[in-house]
Amino acid sequence: MMKRSKSSSAWIANHEDDEYVKRARLEGYRSRASYKLLEIDDRFRLIRPGSRIVDLGAAPGGWAQVAVKRAGERGQVIALDILEMEPIKGVEFIQGDFTEDEPLTLLMDIAGEASIDLVISDMAPNLSGMKDIDQPRSIYLVELALDLARRVLRQNGVLLVKCFEGEGINSIRTELSSSFARVTNFKPRASRNKSREIYLLGRDFRQ
Ligand SMILES: C[S@@+](CC[C@H](N)C(=O)[O-])C[C@H]1O[C@@H](n2cnc3c(N)ncnc32)[C@H](O)[C@@H]1O
Repeated sequence: MMKRSKSSSAWIANHEDDEYVKRARLEGYRSRASYKLLEIDDRFRLIRPGSRIVDLGAAPGGWAQVAVKRAGERGQVIALDILEMEPIKGVEFIQGDFTEDEPLTLLMDIAGEASIDLVISDMAPNLSGMKDIDQPRSIYLVELALDLARRVLRQNGVLLVKCFEGEGINSIRTELSSSFARVTNFKPRASRNKSREIYLLGRDFRQ
């Protein structure tokens, strides 16, 4: 068997102990990330029955499961990831790299212009551990999510996007403020304390 480094076995031990990992297994969610969206939605009431939702960086599908459950049968969930995702009933899935044109065109064809209620993005680059590389990559994904949101959201629509605290985040906040009347930061309990991850929420989209 491949020898694991001390830090990766420590990560696995912590992960196994994690309250949310255990709950996800018991409650049938595909990832502990589901609890972040559940908490955010309980607090801000973003998903309504019948909501049309675009889910970026969706695999393995924890957020999509929550989105489908809460939007109900009248809702629509369109999910995209560079990785494969096991099908979820009620979710239309596009496999592709969001930084490329083709998956974006496919997504736009399904979503249409200016009629989506909510864009959620949990996209994160593969982390190299080097801040100077990871931070600009993650900011770039946030910018792309914002561009898409500007095209597909209806008036008063909502964008929820994962960011990492650090360089570039202030200019993202300023950009969000130019398109959304209300911009809020939120760190859910299920987001690991040590992580610089934070969610930005833009509400009341203005075209
Ligand atoms: C933290 S995970 C998402 C977890 C998911 N929200 C859930 O609840 O199961 C981040 C995802 O972003 C995806 N991702 C990163 N870069 C991407 C890109 N350029 N295009 C599409 N997906 C991307 C990764 O493949 C990964 O599945």
